Amino acid sequence: MYPSNVRDPKMVRITTEKLASAFIEENVAYLRKEIGNEKVLLALSGGVDSSVVAALLIKAIGKQLTCIHVNHGLMRKGESEQVIDVFQRQLGANLIYVDATDRFLDKLAGVADPEKKRKIIGAEFIRVFDEEASKLSGIKYLGQGTIYPDILESDDGIKSHHNVGGLPEDVKFELVEPVKLLFKDEVRVVGKALGLPDEMVYRQPFPGPGLGVRCVGAITRDRLNALREADAILREEFANAGLDKKVWQYFVIVPDFKTTGISNGKRTFDWPAVIRAVNTKDAMSATVEELDWEFMKKVTFRITHEVPGINRVLYDLTPKPNATIEWE
Ligand code: XMP
Repeated sequence: MYPSNVRDPKMVRITTEKLASAFIEENVAYLRKEIGNEKVLLALSGGVDSSVVAALLIKAIGKQLTCIHVNHGLMRKGESEQVIDVFQRQLGANLIYVDATDRFLDKLAGVADPEKKRKIIGAEFIRVFDEEASKLSGIKYLGQGTIYPDILESDDGIKSHHNVGGLPEDVKFELVEPVKLLFKDEVRVVGKALGLPDEMVYRQPFPGPGLGVRCVGAITRDRLNALREADAILREEFANAGLDKKVWQYFVIVPDFKTTGISNGKRTFDWPAVIRAVNTKDAMSATVEELDWEFMKKVTFRITHEVPGINRVLYDLTPKPNATIEWE
């Protein structure tokens, strides 16, 4: 399904509700025709891309769709709970929740290479779906929220996103990727036209491998927890300052090294928390947000005083290029 991986240069950029409605109409018809009476399983991370694919598929095939939310243990604080709440309560989706935290973290233990980490996460994702599918029986298709930058960067060998490069050879599902030729801004316009809530459509993007690519190097549970807590503080302060509506993506990275510090008159040897806040239209290039100094001081104070294991806060000043948005 959706055989072409190349966007026609003449394809009009979807910027209006009218263009989005035309896209939806065309794709709903195509999905109905191609899927027929078969069942589809969807990886529902709660991000914009998979949410839009879910809404499109619900519109096209209704209860033939089963959504699965896998908590890989690399979600942001409170996120899985929110996904369950929004999708079951607001959208009435047929949703299965799987807590696979231990499975993922055990497989990732000691693995420092970013591409290997991505591949492990991608392969484990598919395995979890496979198990759920065999419990459900009769699933033919796997829905995915792949978007165009994922394909371009995967072709360039820049990185293998879990939804493009990490599939094991023996996967028995056929892929359904209705937004794979769209850029992020177009996916949002389509989501809005589909009637998804603003909180979902304008949510900041979050990578499939989650905090896994922000807990740099080999992931440990204590460093991952420190990252999750520091990230929650940053998100809270962004929301308090109204920056959550202004900045495309803002998050914390915790690298795998320690430096000395001092707390309550005692020497500490802890990790730094790196803040990244960037603006972009399509994630192909990005500029750095010029954050207010008082705001930075507040965030620094909170993170260094509230998060065990963190004794410094740094700000990443690098645009894309030369840096990518994520650190891995
Ligand atoms: P980079 O780091 O390549 O990120 O500048 C561009 C955008 O893509 C997101 N990203 C990912 N999304 N799986 C995803 O689904 C991934 O492995 C992945 N890596 C990066 C990143 O957050 C940014 O929005």
